[in-house]
Amino acid sequence: MYQIKTYNAIAKAGLDRFTDHYQINQTDDADAYLIRSVNLHEQDLPNSLKVIVRAGAGFNNVPIDRATANGTAVFTTPGSNANAVKELMIAMLIAASRNLFAAADYAAHNSGADISKRTEHDKTKFSGQELLGKTLAVIGVGHVGSLVANAASQLGMKVIAYDPYLSSDAAWRISTDIHRAKTLPAALKNADYVTIHVPKNEETTGMIGAAEFAAMKPGVTVFNFARGGIVNNTEMLKALDSGQARGYFTDFGSDEILNRKDVVVTPHIGGSTGEAETNGAVQGAETIMNFLETGNVQSSVNLPNLQVPFGTPYRITVMHQNIPNMVGQIATILANANINIENMSNAAKDKVAYTIIDVNHLQKQDAVIIDQLSAIEAVYRVRLIKK
Ligand SMILES: NC(=O)c1ccc[n+]([C@@H]2O[C@H](COP(=O)([O-])OP(=O)(O)OC[C@H]3O[C@@H](n4cnc5c(N)ncnc54)[C@H](O)[C@@H]3O)[C@@H](O)[C@H]2O)c1
Repeated sequence: MYQIKTYNAIAKAGLDRFTDHYQINQTDDADAYLIRSVNLHEQDLPNSLKVIVRAGAGFNNVPIDRATANGTAVFTTPGSNANAVKELMIAMLIAASRNLFAAADYAAHNSGADISKRTEHDKTKFSGQELLGKTLAVIGVGHVGSLVANAASQLGMKVIAYDPYLSSDAAWRISTDIHRAKTLPAALKNADYVTIHVPKNEETTGMIGAAEFAAMKPGVTVFNFARGGIVNNTEMLKALDSGQARGYFTDFGSDEILNRKDVVVTPHIGGSTGEAETNGAVQGAETIMNFLETGNVQSSVNLPNLQVPFGTPYRITVMHQNIPNMVGQIATILANANINIENMSNAAKDKVAYTIIDVNHLQKQDAVIIDQLSAIEAVYRVRLIKK
């Protein structure tokens, strides 16, 4: 029986996915955490914890280095809220082009006599432009960016994408109508609208700053539904004040950008739909079960991809440092115990490596072997999975 601990409200559809081999919230010494926004930085991780899945896209609330040292794999649920963010971004694109927020605000306060006369006179202030034929630059075309790019293309926009790390999976998702820019300035140069869909990291923090605004077309509108800080707010305001930018739409509020007519801030609602929560919970439950029952890894935050068909009765998985002679030491312990290896696969990601060993027979002393493997310096966790 595996033990799951949940934090935050996890959609019932996800909890219902767990089979009879799982108990939910029966103990703190869980095998797996299924979480949303809880801050794990302030919390000890139990030794029992083999996997953390954060239902959603980011993982800033998970202490990755501590999880790795504890032998805990960390996953998110990539793409589970991508459609929600895409729909919000497209809504904002249309709202921006038609001055919807200002127009609605005007109409809401336009009471009293002669409404229709005043409206006819004032409505020219809110005259917009159509998206058809305009250019949208999409920076980052992963799960969200690819959907945004395709949807904008279907609206008749010319779409230029920039993503130097584009995965082949993502490339398959992108319509052939999307143009690919080789550099960020090339993507920005002719865009009427710029939207950012990159993760926040050292490279992307402040990636839209003074030089990038200078490279943009005057009158550009910028959208940031990725993370606060990717667009440099000080430079954004300078661009708005100088007329280089016409508007800024973002999901990430900050004191300096509030109370301006040319800035629209939403309260981080990009992924806030019932459908996205359900998708995240279901995908999260499936990720946990797959990892606990097979040891296979796909798209983990701290482990390399390693997927091997589980065809033998026993599987040993070893999470360890990515340093020389680890595989040799593991194989030697198994050889000394007279255990024949049917298959051994290893992969590495940065400083962490992961080895899967499939065997048909284990001697009675399997606990001893697990202890011996666990005792190798630089091993984070050894698991024995029985089919
Ligand atoms: N507003 C919200 O509520 C909300 C919801 C979901 C996601 N997000 C944010 O949106 C981001 C994107 O989400 P996703 O699901 O598409 O992630 P993703 O990982 O599928 O895609 C990110 C893409 O950015 C690309 N990229 C990375 N660095 C880049 C760089 N320097 N220049 C250009 N491209 C770069 C990657 O190659 C990848 O294709 C997430 O990291 C998250 O922070 C926000």
